Parts: sequence; C-alpha cells; structure tokens
Amino acid sequence: VKRVAILISGGGSNMLALARDMQGDHPARPVLVASNDPDAAGLARAAALGIATAAVDHRPFAGDRAAFEAELLRPILAVEPDILCLAGFMRVLTAGFVRRFEGRMLNIHPSLLPKYKGLHTHSRAIAAGDAEAGCTVHEVTAALDDGPILGQARLAIRPQDTPDTLARRVLELEHRLYPAVLRRFAQGDRGRLDL
Ligand code: GAR
Repeated sequence: VKRVAILISGGGSNMLALARDMQGDHPARPVLVASNDPDAAGLARAAALGIATAAVDHRPFAGDRAAFEAELLRPILAVEPDILCLAGFMRVLTAGFVRRFEGRMLNIHPSLLPKYKGLHTHSRAIAAGDAEAGCTVHEVTAALDDGPILGQARLAIRPQDTPDTLARRVLELEHRLYPAVLRRFAQGDRGRLDL
C-alpha cells in the first residue's frame, strides 16, 4: 500500500475527497496532511479523520523558499511517503524540492491546462469567452502548473456564470477527478484519464 502525504493551504476539500477515497482495498493510504498555514481549516478536518497533521508557517521565512521547504520537509520525510499530493497548496515549490519527489508528486489545478496556469483561472476563462472550463491533475515538475497531464474533467461555461459559480462547479469536478487519478497512479498507471 502506497503512503500518501497531502499538502494543503486552505479548506482542504480536495484533501478530504482523496482521504475519503483511500479506504478499504484502495492501493494507497493518507499518512500526513501538511500545510504552510497553521490556521488552514483542512488541518482540523484531517485530524478529525485520524490523519497525522503538520504545519510550517511560511511567513517567518520572509521569501526564503529554500529555508521554508527545509522545515516543511522534516515532517514529510518522517512519514516516508511514496506519493505527494498538492491539494490547494498555494506556495510555489523550488526545483530542489520538486526534484526530491520527481515522478511521485501530483497537483490539481482549476483549469484545462495548458490554459490558465497560475491564479484567477475562472475569471480568465470567462473573460476569454471560453465555452468550457475544468480542472487538471498533473505530475509536478519544476515549471509552474506544467508537467505530464494525468487527467482532466471539463464542463460547459454557462452565460450567467461568474468566477464564483464556475469555481463551485469545477470544485465538484475536482473532487471526482483527483481521487480517480490518484487511485490509478498508486497502481502505477500513468495513462491519461478524461472525465
Ligand atoms: C482548488 O480549486 C484547487 O484546484 C486550487 O485551489 C482550490 C483548493 O480548494 N488550487 C490552485 O489554485 C493551485 N494553484 P480546497 O482547499 O478546498 O481543496
């Protein structure tokens, strides 16, 4: 059974979707939920599920990303994860950190990559007049929101959609896509899944 550490920054709804799926005959188990924000609501939710948690506040490191990551690495390495899942983790990781987990770190991004890397994906999709929006799970490489795509889920943008309504509907897709991709990935399947 593969050991999965999940990194979050906020509410952790994707983390919950992953953790709830990793039960029974699932090929993986959650062994840690870590956050750069000690107040992230997802930490309490993970603890309530009996998952170990860790928090390393990035703010005292004042932009020294390598020093922040060195602290964040301690609890992660302590649980000896096979797979690292970024789930709403809002810090950019250095190439050095990424290299350590090369080929075993996943991220979910709220756009149909390669469109709209970075932030404000939904307002950008609406402003561009796109017909579709969605989410992508990909392997993490040193380049931001890049790396081999493991899965995508898409929906039609409605004329009345706002960034908020779109975000809500895409988030529901995320909760289906990420567990489905992780389940396959933990079994060694790196083929692409389209929902
Ligand atoms: C999700 O929509 C995720 O795709 C996005 O943040 C949200 C986290 O929600 N991630 C990014 O924007 C990464 N750059 P959650 O904390 O409820 O899972």
